[in-house]
Amino acid sequence: MPQPFTALIMAAGQGTRMRSSTPKVLHLVCGKPMVEWVVDAARHAGAARIVCVVRPGDGVAEGLPEGVEVAEQHEGEGTGAAVLAARTAVADGAVVILSGDHPLVTPAHIDGLLAEHEAQHATATILTTDQLDPTGYGRIVRGENGAVARIVETKYPDGVPAAELAIREVNLGTYVFEASVLYPALDEVRLENGERYLTGAFPVIGAHGGKVVAQLTPDADIALGVNDRAGLMAAEQLAQRRILERHAVEGVTFHQPETTRVEADVTIGRDTTIGPGTSLLGATAVGAGCEIGPHTTMRDSRVADGAQVVHSYLVEAEVGRGALVGPFAYLRPGTVVHEGAKVGTFVEVKNSDIGAGAKVPHLSYIGDAEVGEEANLGASTITANYDGRKKHRTKVGKSVKTGIHTSLVAPIDVGDRAYTGAGSTITEDVPEGALGIGRAKQRNVEGYADRVEEDSK
Ligand code: UD1
Ligand code: CA
Repeated sequence: MPQPFTALIMAAGQGTRMRSSTPKVLHLVCGKPMVEWVVDAARHAGAARIVCVVRPGDGVAEGLPEGVEVAEQHEGEGTGAAVLAARTAVADGAVVILSGDHPLVTPAHIDGLLAEHEAQHATATILTTDQLDPTGYGRIVRGENGAVARIVETKYPDGVPAAELAIREVNLGTYVFEASVLYPALDEVRLENGERYLTGAFPVIGAHGGKVVAQLTPDADIALGVNDRAGLMAAEQLAQRRILERHAVEGVTFHQPETTRVEADVTIGRDTTIGPGTSLLGATAVGAGCEIGPHTTMRDSRVADGAQVVHSYLVEAEVGRGALVGPFAYLRPGTVVHEGAKVGTFVEVKNSDIGAGAKVPHLSYIGDAEVGEEANLGASTITANYDGRKKHRTKVGKSVKTGIHTSLVAPIDVGDRAYTGAGSTITEDVPEGALGIGRAKQRNVEGYADRVEEDSK
């Protein structure tokens, strides 16, 4: 078992290269703020405490998951200043330092780094790789016998010797330090380009006889640091692949993964198939044995086992067991489609209950309504739920059958087993089992065509 450790996440940088009014670490990767990915990795690696360094008032602290401690960086620029800001929060012992802009770091890499640190009896251990384009990263300069001598920063490459720019091994901003050595060393680090670099601590540690070890990972997929939106795009792509693979391993089929978006917190049951062009967003939860897509978007929605949602758009909606939605349905917040019900083609539903086994198959708008079990609404049945000032409710009873083009002018109550005639505008309640007809009576004008022809001569 590794020793208990504190994880320190640096998340107080200005992130100027993002060109954004949002702090860099709050940018979303697959729907989850970058810094939260790092927090989760630290937590799964078994961190006893997680301390996150933020700028006062930048909004980062407010978005952090429960249990994460906050240290404010009031002064100074640079990663060294960030770590110094957490001095009182970090106790002695091993501290794992993580960068808030490395969302792909994994618990396994943190574990591995800690194990190496202990095995080598190191003072500091750095995670590195030679599998990335090294532009902009700190280059690892190794001394005799392979130990790390120093790190050369290349954010401003002017004046950096060509031999050092040629080094492929880079610092990934993931470290283990003995806290009791780190802080005194940082006190000795001088400013460079107006910043106090954490990486300036390594030569100081070395000079005091400390041992600095680098652990090289061949895994480029965890290595990426996000400094600009191009980096964000690359991280997004890698994270998305990781999410889809996790679901695939758990028994989900993706027909065209490269066109599929599944955000970080989405859950999907086994034997569910996700078709091309589908986006499952936010807190969406899909059950087992479902067929979702092609081309379905769902945000914060729940779908029970065995349901089908084809070519549709759902926001904060709920779909029951075995229900059918789409193609081309739009379910808005507060919609509940109960077990075995159907909401079909070009149908919009808002804040309504569609009862078990009920059908709204074509061209309808159902708003603020309760549709009873086994009811069947004819094509183009519409609830007139808004009178220009207020919304009103519609109640449609069990096993009701509305004719096509029925307008239900709310507030209105159609009793169980009632019918409405095609083309009716229903403005009065229909009693249980009755037929409601509300339309003008037809009259035929004989010889009309002949008259039109006469007139145009
Ligand atoms: C840093 C490393 C570099 C490494 C790279 C890996 C230093 C000096 N350089 O460079 O060797 O290859 O990461 O991605 O450490 N931060 C603060 N407060 C600050 C400044 C930064 O909390 O005042 C945080 C940022 O929010 C970010 C992290 O520290 O999460 C790294 O800062 P950044 O400016 O992106 O460092 P790099 O130039 O990428
Ligand atoms: Ca960075």
